[in-house]
Amino acid sequence: MKFFIDTANLDQIKEAQDLGVLDGVTTNPSLMAKEGITGAENILQHYRDICEAVEGDVSAEVIATDYEGMVKQGEELAALNPQIVVKLPMIAAGVKACKYFSDKGIKTNVTLVFSVGQALLAAKAGATYVSPFLGRLDDISTDGLNLIKEIRLVYDNYGFKTQILAASIRNTMHVINCAKIGSDVMTGPLSSITGLLKHPLTDSGLAQFLADYAKGN
Ligand code: G3P
Repeated sequence: MKFFIDTANLDQIKEAQDLGVLDGVTTNPSLMAKEGITGAENILQHYRDICEAVEGDVSAEVIATDYEGMVKQGEELAALNPQIVVKLPMIAAGVKACKYFSDKGIKTNVTLVFSVGQALLAAKAGATYVSPFLGRLDDISTDGLNLIKEIRLVYDNYGFKTQILAASIRNTMHVINCAKIGSDVMTGPLSSITGLLKHPLTDSGLAQFLADYAKGN
């Protein structure tokens, strides 16, 4: 299972990278704005900085909502660094642009996916990643995890190569449940990764080991 961090915060990206378990980064326009990164040039530079900080795939989202605009922006993003994955919204123009980029061998991430039908379309268009938003479905009392389960089933039925990227992950249980049902990737905040470290028996066990070692020295 790949671990991506879902942030545009460089310090958090570096902290996750430093832990040695990070496989990539996802961002979106809201996450960029949260870090105060605005304006096309600053955003492009921030993507360059993120690519320098990590080794894996970095999803960079287009803002255009028409096909031509998506192709233009996606090509500009892809030219920044081979790590860039062009992130496209699940609308007709996004599906069409996804097909365009996959035919050219450029990696894609189809985002804002909330149904199996949408995930099927993304796979048909050759998406590298499909991003079902687990947390946002849970927010409206819909079973987000079940969506990922159903996408897994459909993709396995036909051997689609598109990787399921569980997005809108909010906590460690989301990560663990996604791992149980075979999500290829998860993307979440730093806390959803570092939270996996925690267990009180680990802490008390280590304290005991150190205390016992100290007795003999
Ligand atoms: O990866 C998608 C993500 O950024 C959305 O997360 O927490 O805003 O629903 P959230």
